Amino acid sequence: MSEKQDPFSAPFGTLFGDKMAVATYVDGEYDYPGAAVPLENFSLHPGTHVLHYASECFEGLKAHRQADGSVAIFRLDDSVHRMINSIAKLRMVPPSFEMLRQLIVDATTANASFTPDPPGSLYIRPTFIGTAANIGAAATPSSEAMLYCINSPVGDYFAGGIRPLTLFIETTMPRTTPQFGSVKSGANYVMALGPTLDAKRDHVADQVLFASGDDITETGAANFFLCDSERLITRNLDDSFLHGITRKSIIQIAKDMGLTVEERSIPVAELKAFAEHGELFLSGTAAVIAPVGNVITHGEHIQIGDGQPGPTTLKLREALTDIQTGKAEDVHGWLTPLESA
Ligand code: PLP
Ligand code: COI
Repeated sequence: MSEKQDPFSAPFGTLFGDKMAVATYVDGEYDYPGAAVPLENFSLHPGTHVLHYASECFEGLKAHRQADGSVAIFRLDDSVHRMINSIAKLRMVPPSFEMLRQLIVDATTANASFTPDPPGSLYIRPTFIGTAANIGAAATPSSEAMLYCINSPVGDYFAGGIRPLTLFIETTMPRTTPQFGSVKSGANYVMALGPTLDAKRDHVADQVLFASGDDITETGAANFFLCDSERLITRNLDDSFLHGITRKSIIQIAKDMGLTVEERSIPVAELKAFAEHGELFLSGTAAVIAPVGNVITHGEHIQIGDGQPGPTTLKLREALTDIQTGKAEDVHGWLTPLESA
């Protein structure tokens, strides 16, 4: 693509920077040449482990163009830690923190010229795949792997910009298996796809909010919050859902604003009661902070407040994006500036 292509007129994730960084894991060791290379296709044996047994995980983070024209990555170290954890949960050997961090910085620096101005950003996608050609290794981790990072200039994740979403609340099926929900693995996303497509077709919903056993956790690609002018409520962390870095940032920002934060289980009845006066939103790197205007539960359509984005939701969103883009002071040290961007 050209650096000038408008990411708001292309679907999220379909434009790419022209460089990538690649490391390999062979004979028990990682080899990273230490520099970005041109983006090109991989050649994989048809028996490659990831193609059969889903030995895959990834990260999603963003670089933002700052007011002075430079580019900085938001919460890089948190993503590096989470990816190392995901790789370990695949029972593979993770790279060192330093190597993975450098690989991400190298790819993103090489693609920094593709970073659009805010509200656009440069999405960063570090990816890990098991590459051993072995179709018998169903119960064995791949003996070889590839770790790479690509970048994508992006606009809005949800088509239509900041508009109130409609969520279908799924109370029987979980998004994925409870013990694997905190792993950022492609396997989890394909498991959530069926219920999400069904809800789009049958209920004209934008997303599914998974609440099996009456325990609200998250949607297919974002965490979930209730809030009003005094309180912020979200599900407490456990292995059943993804520990969002945006979630963690919003909790900190809310505390900084003087809101009371509660991390605990949320039954659907509480959401319904909250809808009368409060606000609902989703959070994620791609989603940023996405307001929810309606929920559908057991055939009932419930409007949240007046169905429009609420004031606390919008205040939190502005505070978050101001830090990401350098409009507000980075008091928590969340930005990593790229040197030659
Ligand atoms: N939950 C799921 C399933 C996700 O895919 C994402 C997106 O990455 C999130 C939550 C939010 O996580 P983060 O804020 O780290 O992007
Ligand atoms: C992210 O927000 O980074 C995600 O991984 C969501 C993805 C489905 C685009």
